[in-house]
Amino acid sequence: MKKHVIAIYPGSFDPLTNGHLDLIHRGAKLFDELVIAILDNPDKDPLFTPRERREMVEAMTAHYDNVRVERFDGLLVEFAKKVSANVIVRGIRAISDYEYELQMALMNHKLYPQMDTVFMPSAEAYSYVSSRLVKGIARLGGPVHGFVPAMVEERLHRKLNGSSRRSAASNGKRTPSTTEGEAKPKRKATRTRK
Ligand code: PNS
Repeated sequence: MKKHVIAIYPGSFDPLTNGHLDLIHRGAKLFDELVIAILDNPDKDPLFTPRERREMVEAMTAHYDNVRVERFDGLLVEFAKKVSANVIVRGIRAISDYEYELQMALMNHKLYPQMDTVFMPSAEAYSYVSSRLVKGIARLGGPVHGFVPAMVEERLHRKLNGSSRRSAASNGKRTPSTTEGEAKPKRKATRTRK
């Protein structure tokens, strides 16, 4: 009998990037159901509220009939049990991601042995994109076009500048030549992922 596999793709999604969207697209093809689980943790001091983050993710994934978006707080394994998921999907952009991700995967498996983590390599074009760097660029008025969906670009500028201008590309500044992506900062295994 074919198994019905429910996977969760957890993260802060502060905000959603094109790298996240690529992973969602590939995860939706691999698993019967994909639940995007947005961490609702004020300790992480997010730029966007959980509601805003959810709105953006929902808007950009509405066309998948096996993908849904939920918010969670507390332990990821408890959320996984709640939605009957036994796979966690995480993207790996660079080797520097691996140490921390491995530690988290092993700990989650220890906490809930029925659950396993599937690491998916980021597409090369997205391998240098992170929400953290995108926010940093946007805060300094730089171009984020191509790193995030247009809707997120708009919301970033509205949030940071109080106006709804598009990226710096429309201000005559240079737009990055590649489409998306940038590597997560090098992290120690014990650090909380941003
Ligand atoms: O996008 P992020 O910030 O890298 O995602 C990190 C996330 C949400 C996957 C991680 O912080 C998490 O699972 N938090 C929930 C709390 C938890 O279960 N902690 C124990 C993990 S071993």
